[in-house]
Amino acid sequence: MGRYAEAYAASIADPDGFWGSAAEAITWSEAPRSVLDASGAPFYRWFPDGRLNTCYNALDRHVEAGHGDRPALIHDSPITGTQQSFTYAQLTDAVARFAGVLASLGVTAGDRVVLSMPMVPEAVIGMLACARLGAVHSVVFGGFAAEELAVRIDDAEPKVILSASCGLEPNRVVAYKPLLDEALAIASHQPDACVILQRPQLEAAMGERDHDWATLAASAEPAGCTDVAATDPLYILYTSGTTGRPKGIVRDNGGHAVALAWSMANVYDIGPGDVWWAASDVGWVVGHSYIVYAPLIVGATTVVYEGKPVGTPDAGAFWRVIAEHGVKAMFTAPTAIRAIRREDPEGSLIAQHDLSRFQTLFQAGERLDPDTYRWATRVLGVPVVDNWWQTETGWPIAANLRGLDPMPIKEGSPSVPVPGYDVRVVDGAGEEVPPGTEGNIVVRLPLPPGNLPTLWHDDERYLTSYLSAFPGSYTTGDGGYVDEDGYVYVLGRTDDVINVAGHRLSTGVMEAVVAAHPAVAECAVIGVADELKGQAPRAFVVLKSGVSIDPEELTRQVVADVRKHIGPVAALKEVEVVPALPKTRSGKILRRTMRGIADGRPEPVPSTIEDPRVLEVLTPLLQRHAGS
Ligand code: COA
Ligand code: AMP
Repeated sequence: MGRYAEAYAASIADPDGFWGSAAEAITWSEAPRSVLDASGAPFYRWFPDGRLNTCYNALDRHVEAGHGDRPALIHDSPITGTQQSFTYAQLTDAVARFAGVLASLGVTAGDRVVLSMPMVPEAVIGMLACARLGAVHSVVFGGFAAEELAVRIDDAEPKVILSASCGLEPNRVVAYKPLLDEALAIASHQPDACVILQRPQLEAAMGERDHDWATLAASAEPAGCTDVAATDPLYILYTSGTTGRPKGIVRDNGGHAVALAWSMANVYDIGPGDVWWAASDVGWVVGHSYIVYAPLIVGATTVVYEGKPVGTPDAGAFWRVIAEHGVKAMFTAPTAIRAIRREDPEGSLIAQHDLSRFQTLFQAGERLDPDTYRWATRVLGVPVVDNWWQTETGWPIAANLRGLDPMPIKEGSPSVPVPGYDVRVVDGAGEEVPPGTEGNIVVRLPLPPGNLPTLWHDDERYLTSYLSAFPGSYTTGDGGYVDEDGYVYVLGRTDDVINVAGHRLSTGVMEAVVAAHPAVAECAVIGVADELKGQAPRAFVVLKSGVSIDPEELTRQVVADVRKHIGPVAALKEVEVVPALPKTRSGKILRRTMRGIADGRPEPVPSTIEDPRVLEVLTPLLQRHAGS
């Protein structure tokens, strides 16, 4: 039996033994005596009697072990033309001081702190400072509108909010502080204080409860680590659900630390002293797990990048960063590689940089299409390794385990189930389907450590969203199949979640905004294939009778509405006026049928369709994108 097969079998047959031994990589203030607590099933708890501090594991313990001079974080911002490096000792000091700032504002263990920050070192410092105090952070991606931020503030009820005067996109300065002020004007919950990082590119006007980040940090007393129960929450990260209300994914402290340490060594083959770069944003789960926590927990160096794959300054930006900082492995979404390829089809900019230390390109966040996989493999000459996971899981469900047992890579597949994940493919009735047959991808309970134990303050929604469709299993929301060799193929979502440039969005939420336009009678928003972003949202609208509006003007208004209510990240650019939408006789819009046609994978038209002629009219419009 290979090392993978052995580890996988052990993780499923004896989760206590497997994760109990993985837990030895973590420094506990009280080592757990029990591993998996199934007494509240289907709510599971990992390491219920263990105590630890996640920030201590990410920082202090490396300094105490004599590695204080090792680089912990390298910030590289081609947008501002600056770089800044922190050793483990310096980062520990900065985080301890900022934890002192939070403590002076009354933040204690269990309190929530919302962060809305650009990709600056202070974002990482703010997150780790929360972890140090046992407080619960909730980072909100900067590309969301004020209303989305407000919803998250109301759900998390933070005592303090951390933000910056601005973020920097290549084409504009994004004023974060006015966005925060607008969100707070909408939200019912109000924090006691906001701490604002003033950036030179745009100074923010400060209000009564606002504090200047640098001033407070300069005079703060460093705070020590507060130990917490392994099952206490470390953070809440909101992700798109199928309704307007985002889901507050909860991450615990103990299981998270154990799972991330295990994944760093076994999936990504990264250990102490290695330089690692996850080119994502701290607002996404990839940022939480693989920019902040995992690399630091294992004592590696994490690169924090403020810029884009192209245009900062050119499509060689990534290769420059890899060469300059000696990156061993990087992690990004396929969309970034497609953006580079579009600008530099032959990869000729690669030769300008010394990539001799670069060993692996990891890809996740969306399906790695075979074309992009082949191109990246050819031009880079290193393994290009897909891995599949979600905000809910926090670390890979399926991967090619480069540190444990590298396996042949198959195009279009993130490879095999990771130890701890009992992956099955089932039909609508929950029956397992044979290899090669498409179905719903589920994971048999219990989920391994690091996965969401529940939703923030909403156990009921956790059950209905994930555990009720297929009792005994977690529903991933993804469809696909497993082949004869056990390789998993993830083909796309089975719900209304779409993936735009590696960003997860709900078409349902967009529909609510589009439907509110005064000229719109009804609408359907579906994801259509997009050459760069993987998927792009497209709205099909039926106008109210008697209403006439220039389609271009309608598009302009609807796009502006979506930007205003959801944010630029939603990237809705196309609105199509149609005479009618396909529906069942009971009035349900046949979105799935529309999606299938748009994807070039048409499904049988349901016999319940009200009027098949509607679909005939719509098909050519949907097929414009099929197969691209
Ligand atoms: N703050 C404010 N606005 C933001 C933002 C942020 N942090 N991030 C993105 N936006 C804005 C962008 O400026 C853009 O606005 P625009 O419509 O006015 O141009 C909009 O949100 C859409 O952003 P994005 O989807 O990132 O598109 P893009 O055209 O700016 O860039 C890529 C396209 C492919 C280069 C970029 O998405 C990318 O690098 N993605 C891969 C990496 C990644 O982030 N993956 C996430 C999960 S691993
Ligand atoms: P998020 O929660 O934002 O990380 O998005 C998770 C979703 O992105 C998954 O449910 C998948 O639909 C998709 N996804 C992420 N990684 C992959 C991958 N490697 N292959 C296919 N789909 C992926």
